[in-house]
Amino acid sequence: MKEIYKNPAYSPEERTKDLLSRMTLEEKIGQMCQIDGRENPEFWINERHIGSFLHVRGKEAQRLQDIASKTRLGIPIIFGIDAIHGHGFYSGATVFPSQLGVASSWNPDILKEMAAITAKEVILTGLHWTFSPVICLGRDARWGRVDETFGEDPYLAGILAAAMVKGYQGEKLSDPYSILACAKHYVAHGETVGGRDSTECDIAERKVRSTFLPPFKTAADAGCATFMTAYHAIDGLPCTANKVLLRDILKDEWNLSGFIVTDWDNVGHMHRLQKAAPDMKTSAELAIKAGNDMMMSTPEFYESAIELVKEGTIKEELIDEACRRILETKFRLGLFDHKRNTDFTKARSIIGCAEHKRAAFESALQSIVLLKNENGTLPVSDKVRKIAVIGPNAHDVEAQLGDWTFGPRYYPEKPMLEYNDYDITSVVTILDGIKKRAGDRVEVVYDKGCDMFDESKENIEGAVKLAQQSDMVIAVVGDTVLLNGEVRDRSSLDLTGAQQKLLEALKNTGKPLAVVLINGKPLTVPWIKDNADSIIEAWNPGMEGGNAVAAVLFGDHNPCGKITISFPRNVGQQPVYYNQYPGWHGPARYIDVDPEPLFSFGYGLSYTSYDYSNLKLSTKEIGIDGEIIVSIDVTNTGSIRGTEIVQLYINDIYSSVTTPIKELKGFSRITLNPGETKNVQIKLPVSQLSLIDRQLNRVVEPGEFEIMVGSSSRDCDLIKDIVKVV
Ligand code: NOJ
Repeated sequence: MKEIYKNPAYSPEERTKDLLSRMTLEEKIGQMCQIDGRENPEFWINERHIGSFLHVRGKEAQRLQDIASKTRLGIPIIFGIDAIHGHGFYSGATVFPSQLGVASSWNPDILKEMAAITAKEVILTGLHWTFSPVICLGRDARWGRVDETFGEDPYLAGILAAAMVKGYQGEKLSDPYSILACAKHYVAHGETVGGRDSTECDIAERKVRSTFLPPFKTAADAGCATFMTAYHAIDGLPCTANKVLLRDILKDEWNLSGFIVTDWDNVGHMHRLQKAAPDMKTSAELAIKAGNDMMMSTPEFYESAIELVKEGTIKEELIDEACRRILETKFRLGLFDHKRNTDFTKARSIIGCAEHKRAAFESALQSIVLLKNENGTLPVSDKVRKIAVIGPNAHDVEAQLGDWTFGPRYYPEKPMLEYNDYDITSVVTILDGIKKRAGDRVEVVYDKGCDMFDESKENIEGAVKLAQQSDMVIAVVGDTVLLNGEVRDRSSLDLTGAQQKLLEALKNTGKPLAVVLINGKPLTVPWIKDNADSIIEAWNPGMEGGNAVAAVLFGDHNPCGKITISFPRNVGQQPVYYNQYPGWHGPARYIDVDPEPLFSFGYGLSYTSYDYSNLKLSTKEIGIDGEIIVSIDVTNTGSIRGTEIVQLYINDIYSSVTTPIKELKGFSRITLNPGETKNVQIKLPVSQLSLIDRQLNRVVEPGEFEIMVGSSSRDCDLIKDIVKVV
């Protein structure tokens, strides 16, 4: 019989149909398995007909693909990797700032470019799929994975995620440098109680639909090919077993054309840890019926699924459906037509090349947020002749690159990449960057001052001495990879080790104090807010972070980032996200802490200043299908050119269900010369004023809506007007 599936003249659908008709049940179920490729891969290829490996790189991926090509049907393997802010597990690859960092740019173009470069570097090393973007919302800073998110806002997260999807996947999957994106963790991961990763999420379906599904829907609309089911249970039902979420919404309502993969051993964990299935077979049954197509790292799934079909518990059509989705995706990627071969020669000249580093530098520049600047401390003045750079994060590659680089630390016996194997020469630390920029004119002295963990390893006296001999102090503090990431939730968000003591000693020298924060999440740093002259939030700024921070410190770049996650004053004040709900006693308060966050969502300063005036709405009354044009004049009232992020929030004044006091619904980045005024127009479709009603329908309820425009989510930064929907 003619092998249609081998002939590229046929469509992916026709080729899949032909291939499926040739496959045994075992071969189909093998396609539904994804296994850590470092564990007996030959067995999984030859005996289990595996569909996908993860955590394999470079030459090994090529070797395994060659073995697969010699099997009965020669079905190629999809290789997946967590390249979430650059191809961070590949030594020499371009490492961008963390997702939380780049989110502060509010710039979809830069996220798209970051993803496109990552895709290129990933593809050249023989891989086809990244488990990114992360669309969980970072609403509780205790949660270990906040650094992986775009912050706390669903609207912004959706737009930035869609930009990354387009960057990874290109125009179409068959483009030479396209890889599969994976929207994860579906859904409401990060909302688990107390920020404790992968535990229970106590929210009702209405909240899931109103707050957590919308950014995933935006990613689906952007064509995201794969989605990953989250670890946790929502209201008692593990996401992996949730048919409504997977089949009804994602597959049927949103028309997912690719496939759904579980997170790591979700199927096994449903039985072993969540105890939601009495045995592996029931767990596999729940997963298949709910709509998962590929099971990550549950080896027992293979036997369980075969048994389930043979005994008639699972219809073979369900297996066919899952397998069809996976194979069609492989055809679309061009895997059967050898379009994705590893090219190490090309890789050498492209991975980490100058152009990619420039993009990493640009994204780091735009990620940086100026949180405070008083007494003319920044930019560093011409009069400064000697700078003391102090602190544990001034010259620390791991802290600077952040999570998902080197290797997950919780898996020490099987690291993805050893520190010693990593080419750190291409990483510009904050100290390196400051030294390079300072040149011969300014002397730069450095002391680590203290350790991030071990309080006994401190040299506060030495650091203070350097500070006393200098014209200013740049203190670089924060957290590090061991304090962030999966299974690294924290009950305290204070600075660790002797960092606080170090800062207080530096303050006592009376020298101007600029603090640079290198951190994966908001930290509770009210002392820094009250005592530092300037604060720069640099997050995990990636390999070019040092150059970018130096450019901001010395005024070569006027900072324009705005934080996308609110900072609590103390850990007990959480959650402090801006889109709180109104309550009988007003938004949630405590008697012992200022109700405002330390720094609010959308906040960020510049070396210039802006004035907002003339808020106008294109209409005062509108029907539910309409679109309002919101216009405002923004003037640069300072003396240097700058970029401002103009934000549009709404509030549904009266509604059938409670709604957030503010919701971001639009933004615009504008660049203004000194003295220049620009009229900014933001389109607001009335559909953006919708809510999820008690019957779980998305509706726009007629009535009055407050429209707020300004430089941050704080009331004092917003100008307001009202529109009526009729
Ligand atoms: C578990 C993590 O939760 C997920 O984000 C990641 O993609 C997989 N492991 C694979 O490494």
